Amino acid sequence: MAAVFVTGTGTDVGKTFITAALVRHQREAGRPVDAFKPIISGFDPTAVANSDAGVLLTALGRAITREEIDRIAPWRFAAPLSPDLAAEAEGRSIDFGKLVDFSRAAAYGRGTIFIEGVGGIMVPLDQTHTVLDWMSALRIPVLLVAGSYLGTISHTLTALHVLAHRNLDIAGVVVSESEAPGASLEDTVATIARFSSPIEVIGLPRMPPDTLPPAAVRSRIDRFL
Ligand SMILES: Nc1ncnc2c1ncn2[C@@H]1O[C@H](COP(=O)(O)OP(=O)(O)OP(=O)(O)O)[C@@H](O)[C@H]1O
Ligand SMILES: [Mg+2]
Repeated sequence: MAAVFVTGTGTDVGKTFITAALVRHQREAGRPVDAFKPIISGFDPTAVANSDAGVLLTALGRAITREEIDRIAPWRFAAPLSPDLAAEAEGRSIDFGKLVDFSRAAAYGRGTIFIEGVGGIMVPLDQTHTVLDWMSALRIPVLLVAGSYLGTISHTLTALHVLAHRNLDIAGVVVSESEAPGASLEDTVATIARFSSPIEVIGLPRMPPDTLPPAAVRSRIDRFL
């Protein structure tokens, strides 16, 4: 599988964290890899290293330069709002056709290409399109990232239902252990898996940033990458 769209059940669930971990895993295995985060809202030019683009460039082992940020994250907005509103706040808008063309070109790169979406699966990008339309236009497999907080099971199963309704190819689900309390990671993964079989559901425990996922997680990840 060459290109994967990394989406989430919502914002802040761990999409960037997992994409960075997958990038490190691919690099460690000596495989070519690249990662894109075409749209960022809440972008602070004085804290670029902490932005999604900065985190992904660090995982890729690339310099955090203006050129590199432009290459992987061309649509950047200051307001921490959904992209349609964040763009509007600057008198701008996202040209959906250009976003799709950019993402398609990115997906044709060498090796495994990760494209991180923005927020959850139906976040508005402009007046008429959501992330779901973006994924549908690209037709590349989707990796769904979820948390393990209380409520995640319904959020995850709802998201899977909507993805399946659009006939999107679901590469797998990764549950990134949340800080917020909920059921254990194991119970959360087992319950989601029970309702979404045969989709692969993997749990990623809390781990320090800039590290590789545990070996057991890495070998399961290889089954869908
Ligand atoms: N398994 C984990 N172990 C430790 N920290 C984690 C884990 N998963 C996520 N985090 C942390 O949770 C926070 C949110 O994760 P992340 O930024 O990856 O979310 P996101 O879904 O990409 O958010 P956004 O919608 O803003 O793009 C970050 O500080 C990240 O480092
Ligand atoms: Mg992110």
